[in-house]
Amino acid sequence: MTSPISSAQENSRDHLKRVAAEYAVRFIHSGMRVGLGSGSTAYFATCRIGELIREGVLKDIVGFPTSREARALAEKLGIPLMDDSMPNDLDLTIDGADEIDPKLNLIKGGGGALFREKIVAQATRREIIAVDDSKLSPTLGTNHFLPVEVSSFGWRSQQRFLESLGARVSIRRVAEGSQFLTDSGNMILDCTFGPIADPAALAATLSARAGIIEHGMFVQLASDVIVASSSGIRHVQQQGTAIAEIAAEE
Ligand code: A5P
Repeated sequence: MTSPISSAQENSRDHLKRVAAEYAVRFIHSGMRVGLGSGSTAYFATCRIGELIREGVLKDIVGFPTSREARALAEKLGIPLMDDSMPNDLDLTIDGADEIDPKLNLIKGGGGALFREKIVAQATRREIIAVDDSKLSPTLGTNHFLPVEVSSFGWRSQQRFLESLGARVSIRRVAEGSQFLTDSGNMILDCTFGPIADPAALAATLSARAGIIEHGMFVQLASDVIVASSSGIRHVQQQGTAIAEIAAEE
């Protein structure tokens, strides 16, 4: 579904990811417990957090990474971290997304970290999603498949179940062709549904199925979305049932 892009476009997309991620870091204050997202956008946020800690601008930060890769990066940057049991809930998390609808529902899991990312999103007071504008979509499923993490025990049954719901299912593989395994040792089935009319209903159906560990639909979990485009930054916030535009700071 994703179209090939030139390296020039890719560079400008990376630039926008960095701009959005670094803007999101402005909402972190000293003393906070911070969830560290996974993927190429969250990478820029974590690097900026490390930089601000090194410069002494941010003090007493404790991070909680959403993947082994995010933990390795944070350790390399010297960010103090909680252990994997998550002894405390989190004040704020910065993560990326694969697709966002106008109600701030998300598809996540393009990098395979959706299970841990959702655990973190549910344990954080404020979930800030940073994206470039290519992630915006009228309806989830239009531009990105839905990653579904399944137990390898009986996985073909989950494949048939997902197909019965209308998905075209492909097994996620690594470059060498073997099955991709998540940080929790599970498989990912990438499900092309096309536009998903009722994300909450599909999310509930998937969550009720034994063998589906987690799915990449994040319904009503994002508090804020920061979107970077060539025309600047947009900050959108969930306020109760309403979506508010917040004036972006310089
Ligand atoms: C990781 O599993 C994902 O949920 C990422 O947050 C998502 O795929 C966005 O990734 P990029 O920031 O690399 O586009």
